[in-house]
Amino acid sequence: MATLRLSSLVAFLALCSTTLPTSFGSGPPAPFIVPVQRVVNSSTSGHNLVKAGQARFEVFNRIQTRTKGFAASAAPSTSLTDQIVTFTINSVVDGKNFSLIVDTGSSNTWVGANPANRLTPPVSLDLLEVTYGSGAVLGQETDKTVNVTPDVAVESQSIGEAITSVGFDGVDGIMGFGPVGLTEGTLLLDPIATIPTVMDNLFSQGTIPSETLGVFFAPTTEDNPINGELSFGGVDTSKATGPMSFFQSTLPFWAISQSATFGDTTIMNLTTCVVDTGTTLVMLPDDTFTAYQDLTGGTLDATTGLLSISPAQLDSLQTLSFIGTDVNGETQHFDLTPNAQLFPRAFNTEIGGSADDIFLIVASSGSTAVSEVGCIMGQTFLQRTYSAFVTPSGDPSGAGTVGFATTPFTDATTN
Ligand SMILES: *[C@@H]1O[C@H](CO)[C@@H](O)[C@H](O)[C@H]1NC(C)=O
Ligand SMILES: *[C@@H]1O[C@H](CO)[C@@H](O)[C@H](O)[C@H]1NC(C)=O
Ligand SMILES: *[C@@H]1O[C@H](CO)[C@@H](O)[C@H](O)[C@H]1NC(C)=O
Repeated sequence: MATLRLSSLVAFLALCSTTLPTSFGSGPPAPFIVPVQRVVNSSTSGHNLVKAGQARFEVFNRIQTRTKGFAASAAPSTSLTDQIVTFTINSVVDGKNFSLIVDTGSSNTWVGANPANRLTPPVSLDLLEVTYGSGAVLGQETDKTVNVTPDVAVESQSIGEAITSVGFDGVDGIMGFGPVGLTEGTLLLDPIATIPTVMDNLFSQGTIPSETLGVFFAPTTEDNPINGELSFGGVDTSKATGPMSFFQSTLPFWAISQSATFGDTTIMNLTTCVVDTGTTLVMLPDDTFTAYQDLTGGTLDATTGLLSISPAQLDSLQTLSFIGTDVNGETQHFDLTPNAQLFPRAFNTEIGGSADDIFLIVASSGSTAVSEVGCIMGQTFLQRTYSAFVTPSGDPSGAGTVGFATTPFTDATTN
């Protein structure tokens, strides 16, 4: 079903070429594009991308456990502190501009992380609390009109207004693009309530034709360029170099079943992987990581926590492929070339390395236990692959699909 709907959408988008309508007033629902800003935190100390990824992994597994009814209290959502790079979009609420982290791994939208950029004190009695990998927000939940572009407004969007938050320096909050179920447990006075997401409301208000978010990130070595885009309501085929393949997602996240090979060697059997714009690295189960380390010959760098390889080991680096069965029953793979497995050298010094180090973007989730969530496909994967997150239209709490397609950056040698 999703495939059928998407193929007509794809045909429509192909007609629209690269400049999709960003304004449609009261016209029919149409996809629209919003630029994504890449914010680089060039603090030269204190980043620990591996720890940040592991903290995120732990929160995902806590949510998974909670969803199964084993634990009642863990607050959902995750994120995003301690990253070198965050992807943000600008939104306007009550005439104020907010730079919000694009997060497919959580579903609440909130503003006000920066005390100097808050709305007037809210009066709602709905207290909101979300804890993240290493940050948290406490706020109040109120209905607002949220402009995702100057021309596109989401009416009556329930958002959080921070009273206090920790771990969100340099941004104003989060726009959550995860499934709506992840909002359960975030309203303190109504812990079983869910909060319709921005995507849910865009669809239910007839603004977009399909509850689809397309994500295009590009690797770059420059600081802070606007070099990515979100496509609301459909896939922007102009950014893809191949067809989209869709994989069934498993709730409560955007998570798909994948195996992985390095060269000819299978290093990961089928594992649930969260597709997460809020994690920098590719986090693999510990035994898979050990196999990857052995095959690459890399050594763990004490300062950065990343695998470090020599120029000779770089020469023999193999392709890391993620493999899954798509919704049509076909086996598909999406690859990280040797170049795509390299941490951008321009940022080496910002994580405490030196300019000529060669670091890899694959890290261990830290978990040896069999866990429901085994891996995270983070930004370093998503910069090489167009991704789409499709909620079943009219069934926002249902399990959707995650789509991938190759881009010009899949094989690029930009690092
Ligand atoms: C940058 O990263 C450092 C280390 O993780 C963190 O302490 C700091 O708050 C971050 N700053 C911004 C503006 O994000
Ligand atoms: C928000 O920021 C954008 C980009 O910096 C700017 O063009 C726009 O005028 C700002 N809008 C408001 C309401 O401040
Ligand atoms: C995958 O599963 C098979 C069968 O259980 C097992 O023999 C193999 O060691 C597993 N491979 C990895 C990489 O875990």
